Amino acid sequence: MKYLLDTANLADIRRFYDIFPIAGVTTNPSIVKKEGKIDFFAHMNEIRDIIGPESPLHIQVTALDMEGMVRDAEAILTKIDAKVYVKVPVTMEGIRAIKCLKSQKVRVTGTAIYSAQQGFLAMEAGADCIAPYFNRMENMGLNSDEIIAALAEMIRLYDYPTEILAASFKNAGQVDRAFLAGAQTATMDPSILEAALTQPHIMQAVAGFDADWKAVFGEKTVAEL
Ligand code: E4P
Repeated sequence: MKYLLDTANLADIRRFYDIFPIAGVTTNPSIVKKEGKIDFFAHMNEIRDIIGPESPLHIQVTALDMEGMVRDAEAILTKIDAKVYVKVPVTMEGIRAIKCLKSQKVRVTGTAIYSAQQGFLAMEAGADCIAPYFNRMENMGLNSDEIIAALAEMIRLYDYPTEILAASFKNAGQVDRAFLAGAQTATMDPSILEAALTQPHIMQAVAGFDADWKAVFGEKTVAEL
């Protein structure tokens, strides 16, 4: 299992990389919008500096046609670095762009995936990662667990090198279900990770241990005995 941060917020990336076992960062135009009118490439390079050269960084193209997507990819790879995963929405033009980028050995993530069919096509076009949108599929009444399981089964059956990078989560339960269904990787807003470890019952358990220890040993910790 790998956890990625679905954010472009520099303070959050710094803080959560320090605390959690984070494997990388994903962004998309809506996530970038939250940061305001930033200097896009300078900001993305700052993310790269924080996470390091080996941590996967996924950045999305914004053009809607294949030629424009490929130009976007070239700009991303030139102005950031060649290890960036270029995120391409799995549309008709997107599939053309994925095939073209893979022929140039670019790392590609097929995104905006709402069906097994889209995922299968992206795998066959050579995508390194595919991003099924868990919560958005649930909102449409689709069974996200089954769709991810179908993608995972096809990867297993035919030995595709593609990784499932599940995305679009609104709570920790959805993340767990995506992993259980076969996603190797999940990307989420930092608030979902924070909520997973700060529930009141967890804090209550810790407070209970603290009170019991102090009732016997006072303020000394184990190391201070
Ligand atoms: C990944 O980067 C996806 O674009 C993202 O997780 C979508 O999430 P949303 O459904 O919360 O917009």
